[in-house]
Amino acid sequence: MKFEIKKRDAAGRICNFTTKHGIIKTPTLLPVINPNKVIISPKEMKRLFGVEMVITNSYIIKNNEKLRSRAVEEGVHGLLDFDGPIMTDSGTFQSYVYGNVKVDPLEIVEFQREIESDVGTILDIFGTPDQTRIQAKRGVIETINRAKQSMKIKGDMVLACTIQGSVYPELREFCASKLSEINTDFFPIGGVVPLMENQRYSDLLRCIIASKRGVNHSKPIHLFGAGHPIIFPLAVALGCDFFDSSAYVKYANDNRLIFPDNTIKLDDLDELPCSCPICSKYTARELKKEEKSTRILQIAKHNLYISFSEIKKIRTAIMNGNLWELVERRANSNPYLIDAVQELRKKNNKKWLEQFEIISKNKALFYTGNQTIHRPLIFRIQKRLKERYNFLSNKYILLPETKKPYSKYYNKEILKIFSNKKDIQILVKSPLGPIPIELDEMYPFAQSIFPNKIDSHTRHIVKENSKKFLDGKNEIPYTDEEVNVEESETYNKIFQYFDIRKISSIADMQFGKNAFKALFNGDIKIVKSKKTGKIRNIYCNDKHILSMRAGDGMFTLKLDGALKLHEYFKYPYLRVIIQKDAVPFIIDGKSVFAKFVVDCDDNLRPYDECIIVDEKDTLLGIGRCLLNKIEMLSFDSGMAVKVREHIK
Ligand code: GUN
Ligand code: ZN
Repeated sequence: MKFEIKKRDAAGRICNFTTKHGIIKTPTLLPVINPNKVIISPKEMKRLFGVEMVITNSYIIKNNEKLRSRAVEEGVHGLLDFDGPIMTDSGTFQSYVYGNVKVDPLEIVEFQREIESDVGTILDIFGTPDQTRIQAKRGVIETINRAKQSMKIKGDMVLACTIQGSVYPELREFCASKLSEINTDFFPIGGVVPLMENQRYSDLLRCIIASKRGVNHSKPIHLFGAGHPIIFPLAVALGCDFFDSSAYVKYANDNRLIFPDNTIKLDDLDELPCSCPICSKYTARELKKEEKSTRILQIAKHNLYISFSEIKKIRTAIMNGNLWELVERRANSNPYLIDAVQELRKKNNKKWLEQFEIISKNKALFYTGNQTIHRPLIFRIQKRLKERYNFLSNKYILLPETKKPYSKYYNKEILKIFSNKKDIQILVKSPLGPIPIELDEMYPFAQSIFPNKIDSHTRHIVKENSKKFLDGKNEIPYTDEEVNVEESETYNKIFQYFDIRKISSIADMQFGKNAFKALFNGDIKIVKSKKTGKIRNIYCNDKHILSMRAGDGMFTLKLDGALKLHEYFKYPYLRVIIQKDAVPFIIDGKSVFAKFVVDCDDNLRPYDECIIVDEKDTLLGIGRCLLNKIEMLSFDSGMAVKVREHIK
């Protein structure tokens, strides 16, 4: 089994999952195939909706003489007539629904191996939300024991070891970390069906986050029994990779049509508000009149069209870096989901999510409502402003909000203020709070779009944050007095000063407090683009230290810059540390693969610039992280750092 990140956003990711029956793309949905009653065959699902993998139930197969002998003879792929990957479940859910069903925890794993399931599942103990902590803990301990025993007999089948723990976050985290220790390859989050059925999305969110906190980050996560697309965007943003759905048939049997943010009874529809092939072919009246089995089939197809179109929307959002926007928009369609998303306002959740958030995007940060201000990226920026930003002095001038880029619009004011006095801090009011004017082109300040009138919750949060940021500083009024620039200094000199200030502030925000001091302790030369006039390359004593990226207004680090940061910042700050064996590869110009990483600075974030060193802290090269520390240390395949320059 191989699981490799291809693209990421929020704590979500697009991955390639390699199985014996081919490579599939996640996040994805596995339609549940009831082997007793196949209403749409997997082959047809592949043709109609692009289904790549399905899930069926080994307990049902094993308990039906006919199905069992066919499965044993032809394998589960022969039985379902499908050559893509197939996952099997174990009978846990049947035990939960029907009470004590007879199934042996090891026999069912052996059986799944025998019928050549690609991903088999242990017979975990379904932890219900109404359990006491003690009951839930008992179930968790037994689930872990069964996982350990099952691992010994699984052969080369991937074994899904379900994370249980009812609604107790610490039990979920405990279960996830214990299961991760036994080195299994696939982690469903179980026991959540009753939460979803009762729209307890806040509890569901807590279960997912707690499980993710404990689990090995390099492994696929499956949200067991989550079939309604309303939950997909949030679950993916929190790091779920797989869903399974029997909802498409269940709802169809009940005459209900699934939509991205709700379900509607066919009886309540005068027309079909959808343009899938089914809804394009039928009118609501025709569908209502259809013979029962045909009607169920058609609604089931509609339900799958909608579910897969939602999966595609989510993947597109990851590709475009706007998954949080999709989450916020979906959340606004359901009060229970609003409650859940508001859990993300808690500091410990923001702190956890921030680690996975990439440094910058090539798309603007788009406001959708009062949740936007709580995005992990904004949390990061506020934190970095507080911890890394060097104020020029205790005195600041706060200029009103204006058009972007602020520094261009306030050209004259900058000139006046700095020709008068060099150590006045200039801030501009922005929707994100007062920002230093020289950071105006850095992501996300320039690349964010807010409405003219911002909601009162956001205003309140921004005000609170500003208070913290400006604590101990004094505002002085801006007076539009005449300044004779000719007399004091030349125009150019002041803007040179501003350029240096800009480089200094961005470098500190990006690399850490005083990074600028470390990088530039000599003659600074700035080379600008002839076309745009923007800063391109920065030299110190004729050595190329940094280049500025036009897209996000941040720096790429050059080898000579890395030498300075390496000298100034103590180990392991900014570093990715690799094994001795991997050193020749780096010197040969290859990238850093996760399996060679022995340690890493926990301040580094995906897409951060980093310094690559060996275990003796010898500088080897520089590059861009693709993973954070937790991920670098857990993945054993795929790239960790894209190397840009290396020592010879
Ligand atoms: N299907 C839905 N929920 C569960 C669960 O918790 N465990 C297993 N094995 N299957 C499920
Ligand atoms: Zn439709």
